[in-house]
Amino acid sequence: MQSPEQRAVQLVQELNEHAYRYYVLSQPTISDAEYDEKFRELQQLECDHSHCIRPDSPTQRVGAAPLNGFLTVQHRRPMLSLDNAMNADELVAFDEQVCRLLVKDGALSESAPQNQEHLVEYTVEYKFDGVAISLSYENGLLTQAATRGDGTTGEDVTANIRTIRAIPLRIRSEQPVTGIVEVRGEVLFRKKEFEALNVDRLKQGLESFANPRNAASGSLRQLDPQETAQRPLSFFAYGVGVIESSEHSLSSLVDRPLSDLMRRVEAFGFNISPGYRTVRGAEQLVQAYTEAETSRDALPFEVDGIVIKVNDVGLQARLGFRQRSPRWAVAAKFKPVEAVTTLLDIVVQVGRTGSLTPVACLEPVRVGGVVVSRATLHNQDEIDRKDLRIGDRVVVRRQGDVIPAVVAPVTASRNGSERRYKIPTECPECGSSVVRSEGEVVARCLNPNCPAKIQERLVHYACRDGMDIEGLGEKMVALLLEHSLVTELSSLYTLSLEQLQKLPRMGELSSKNLLEAIQDSKKRDLDRFIFGLGIRHVGSRTATVLGRHCKGVAAFLALTEEELLSLDDVGPETARSIVSFLAEQDEVEGVRRLLEVGVAPVPVSAPNVSNAVVAGKTFVITGSLATMGRKDAEAQILALGGKVSSSVSKKTDFLVAGENGGSKLDAARKNGVPILTEEEFATLLNVES
Ligand code: IVH
Repeated sequence: MQSPEQRAVQLVQELNEHAYRYYVLSQPTISDAEYDEKFRELQQLECDHSHCIRPDSPTQRVGAAPLNGFLTVQHRRPMLSLDNAMNADELVAFDEQVCRLLVKDGALSESAPQNQEHLVEYTVEYKFDGVAISLSYENGLLTQAATRGDGTTGEDVTANIRTIRAIPLRIRSEQPVTGIVEVRGEVLFRKKEFEALNVDRLKQGLESFANPRNAASGSLRQLDPQETAQRPLSFFAYGVGVIESSEHSLSSLVDRPLSDLMRRVEAFGFNISPGYRTVRGAEQLVQAYTEAETSRDALPFEVDGIVIKVNDVGLQARLGFRQRSPRWAVAAKFKPVEAVTTLLDIVVQVGRTGSLTPVACLEPVRVGGVVVSRATLHNQDEIDRKDLRIGDRVVVRRQGDVIPAVVAPVTASRNGSERRYKIPTECPECGSSVVRSEGEVVARCLNPNCPAKIQERLVHYACRDGMDIEGLGEKMVALLLEHSLVTELSSLYTLSLEQLQKLPRMGELSSKNLLEAIQDSKKRDLDRFIFGLGIRHVGSRTATVLGRHCKGVAAFLALTEEELLSLDDVGPETARSIVSFLAEQDEVEGVRRLLEVGVAPVPVSAPNVSNAVVAGKTFVITGSLATMGRKDAEAQILALGGKVSSSVSKKTDFLVAGENGGSKLDAARKNGVPILTEEEFATLLNVES
């Protein structure tokens, strides 16, 4: 029988281990309910025997009384800032300067042959966009947490920091940790949790945070730790302050390469940067920088660059410091992807299925090197959820480096003149009434002859994944509609050279080319034809499945819901959408007219190659693949009889993880889905059946 003291020690140890697995490794081994049960047992035990309350007990994370203000803390060692490199050239210049200084110092030989070993080694990690914190551990226990402040003195935010589950209250270690260990890093909000926080705040009538950094900073500045405890903050370690210990294994750490030290910090129970690694020389630095910039969006949290540090601490000492920053480190910043501008107006676009999409008209602003003046707002619910009002100052962000999005209003800048927006009840293109069906987020114009719908349907039909009609883009379609030369898809095939030549800026050659491209499209594969019809929820992946399944257009027109549901990759919503398309007389007539004018889609044969490993298996791809594009990878999986899905679940057979895969990796680990590297995946594709 254990004594209460022994039981408390055991429970604290177990609970902390589970918290570590959950919050740091994202690999929980017990259910939330089991955790809660143990937690309650500990709470009860501590309540009955107050002398059993241990400083690293998880019950002690929250519970400190609200403060009147923050005390100041003198940092044992200053918290420095970093110099910036704004592009690849400046990063190369940084390496050149490091080499120059080391040559001058005699640490590097000028005439050294330029082979790998003679290049300077650097660590590469993300530059987190959060709040810098220094954590002091004394004899293994967290005793103080301070903000950076002016670098010399910061604020004591210990009570708030203790509520962050990804920060260990006791350093994880087999041997007892004696003396002082300072771990430094960044407190931040993950993107998903940040969004949820803002939604919640708007619901409560509170101001939203403009970005995750502000949210993290605001959360740490709460005087009541109970408030901070409500905010799901994360922590990533990027370095250490002082390490003072009589234990050699600890004190000698500071003489080891920085990367060894960071691996030890990781073993202490902290998150370090995903993809943390070392590289040598300018070329690899630039490569790491480019790779990191392309994969930043896949990360579950915001980063604004990478941080490069000389790995050898002996060389670091020789390089030394400037006023406030080390000469041995640099922050290579990514192009900014966020800016603040004014939401001038909201207009509505009508899509091919009649969907009304509200679009933000923005005061032009430069984001990530591109001027943005429009951004989709998706639907009324999104506008309401973000509480966007015309006249608002808004945060604009370029996602995936291309599509601009309005993230949030800067509610603090409001002056009362801002106007709420309601999507029109009549189609702005044709005046017909707009309907938003029960349970749908999208409002639609139901008029089948709405000109905006026809325009979008024609563009979609002719697009590259559809019938691939070169020269028939948005502008050309608009021109044809303007001159009343087309009224529906089939009228494309009855266009004459004479008609086209009369159009402005259409010479004989371009008219002939367009006609030829239209004629060529008559013999496209069935899957492209199906995609081109523009049925809601039928993207190219589903169209491929349908194209393979149906022997021809007639079979496609005869599809039933039951048959559709028996197909892979066709869910109930898609099946319903297809069936309702096929039940629409106008739509079926439209398809018939296409056949009458000579469109003869070619049935697609099922894959004749098969691969025993890939066939029938479901793959999810995450991160960027170096040797093949994601589209390529998807096509290969489909060609070998496999399936591709966009989210990881228990049904997923493999996750293919490229560089910097994001939350899908966590999901795969949670669901026990095997993770393949790009190389392993390539090998799998080549397995003969
Ligand atoms: S190292 C001696 N590494 O950037 C070097 N800083 O501009 C000290 N930051 O105040 C900093 N991610 O808050 C370092 N991976 C990283 C970082 C990082 C974000 C912040 C840090 C610091 C600021 C410097």
